[in-house]
Amino acid sequence: MEEHFNGSLLDAVKAALAQLEGSYAIAVCCQDSDEIVAARYMSPLVIGVGEDGFYAASDVPAILPYTKRVIYLDDGEVALLRRDGITIYGADGDEIQPEISTVEWEQEHVEKAGYPHYMLKEIYEQPAALKSTIESLVEARHLEVRLPHLDLPPEFLRGASQVIFIACGTAYHAGLVGKYALSTLTQMPVSCEVASEFRYTPPYIDDKTLIVAISQSGETADTLAAVAEAKRRGARAITICNCTGSSIVRNTDGVLYTRAGPEIGVASTKAYTTQLAVVSILATHLAELRGSIDSVRREEILSELLKIPELAQKTLEDDSTILECSEHFMNTTTFLYIGRRFNYPTAFEGALKLKEISYIHAEGYGAGEMKHGPIALVQEDYPTVAIATAGEVHEKMVSNIQEIKARGGPVIALTNPGDDETRELVDYVIEVPQVPEMLSPILNVMPLQLLAYHIAVKKGLNVDQPRNLAKSVTVE
Ligand code: AGP
Repeated sequence: MEEHFNGSLLDAVKAALAQLEGSYAIAVCCQDSDEIVAARYMSPLVIGVGEDGFYAASDVPAILPYTKRVIYLDDGEVALLRRDGITIYGADGDEIQPEISTVEWEQEHVEKAGYPHYMLKEIYEQPAALKSTIESLVEARHLEVRLPHLDLPPEFLRGASQVIFIACGTAYHAGLVGKYALSTLTQMPVSCEVASEFRYTPPYIDDKTLIVAISQSGETADTLAAVAEAKRRGARAITICNCTGSSIVRNTDGVLYTRAGPEIGVASTKAYTTQLAVVSILATHLAELRGSIDSVRREEILSELLKIPELAQKTLEDDSTILECSEHFMNTTTFLYIGRRFNYPTAFEGALKLKEISYIHAEGYGAGEMKHGPIALVQEDYPTVAIATAGEVHEKMVSNIQEIKARGGPVIALTNPGDDETRELVDYVIEVPQVPEMLSPILNVMPLQLLAYHIAVKKGLNVDQPRNLAKSVTVE
């Protein structure tokens, strides 16, 4: 920029941008000018349009204290901010008239509101986030699904040859639950792929493939790249996202919004459980469109889903056993989480929560795989969290627990009230209200979020900004 500078900061930045490779989101100023030039490519950048000033930031929460009016820059666009106004230039260099959006979030949403950490606040916001999300997509009076931002014709959804969920990290675990839900409600081909693998080795894709990309931020580089590759091969893509105006929303054919509000803690909590609610709604909608379920079954599922926010509140009421477990196991060096069917992903999500904020190694595993290896690890200082709530394979989970206990391994079990058989077998019981197995991952993950949180706090770690991690992985 310095080499190109000849009095115009804008021209110098544009000239330098032409030389760049890779992704960037930058804001440039210099002592000879009171302008700021901002630009982005494959990394997020928003411009705040305030009453008394203009702002550039990588994410909306940074701007909220000053304005709720934002411009989401697109790849290749450049913004010139001056004291008296802003000008946006398109990728071709010409001035463009940008769309100014008004963010629905409020300033207090990005504050701790008396909680010691954003993560704890966001765990306890889950009942409200679930209520807001479910009621935005389910018309309660007629128990019908409403998908206002889905731009795909019903006949495409009805005739889709396959569904592929694509995501990273926690969002990938939500995709796994979506896969189980769709496989259970329909006989259509469905899979769930890690975006960072999919983008380099995609499976068979045709022009009747429906991609469902799940992303809280909508800016995850691997997920964006995977969607682009799938579309290049002819697929249609929709997204489940928490951030309006994000890149993935702009790059897909429709969005099912989670309405979790801003999620500040790096460890995803309320975004995950609202993603689970949305994949359940989407699976139900697709199943009915394709004639796999009738309206009676649809009403059954949706009426159970509408009860979830209240049951989530009940799930979060008593954390006494979780606190006891966090005290007892805080110095453990490794944990095993096991589950089956719909709670196979719950095991992986519980393990990820512990890993990313307490730095304790933890592994999620399908309980049915214990005899194929992990049972060799069981010993006194190797605790297992067993997700043993009601479901088709509950008895199999009880057997797993018996095998672990017979080898001296401590077990923390998630169960439903009245499950005395499991209670008598294990060292700690965390009770969760009983709901249909398909919806149980929404409630079952909450005690696991709290377990990870309390262990990390007892270890004095930075819960909201764990080492080496970023809230949105906008780079490969
Ligand atoms: C979850 O706790 C992690 N912060 C991380 O795995 C996250 O889920 C992943 O990076 C995906 O982010 P996204 O939902 O914004 O795409």
